[in-house]
Amino acid sequence: MATFTVTIEDTGETYRCSDKQSLLLGMEALGKKGIPVGCRGGGCGVCKIAVTAGEYQKRVMSREHVSEQEEAEGCVLACRVMPASDVKLKVVGKMKKNVCRLTHASES
Ligand code: FES
Repeated sequence: MATFTVTIEDTGETYRCSDKQSLLLGMEALGKKGIPVGCRGGGCGVCKIAVTAGEYQKRVMSREHVSEQEEAEGCVLACRVMPASDVKLKVVGKMKKNVCRLTHASES
């Protein structure tokens, strides 16, 4: 088991997360805040983040919450992703749905 440092860019908060634990549960386990916590199981989409640096492993995510294009751009659900290196992320969540698409404004 390996443990990596996760940085939440919005708040500057950092925490350690093992490669066996999702970014969301790793944060919660340490009593940290920053990523919105919802169903913890990939169903609600509030924990959506954009990974800005680092490697990660992901489980299957609902297309309802993460489009193929978003996934390719590093937009994922924190409860469905485990770190595979030190990771930096930005919170996207339901309230900021457009963030992932800023570079693709021409798309409908
Ligand atoms: S907490 Fe609901 S999708 Fe991640």
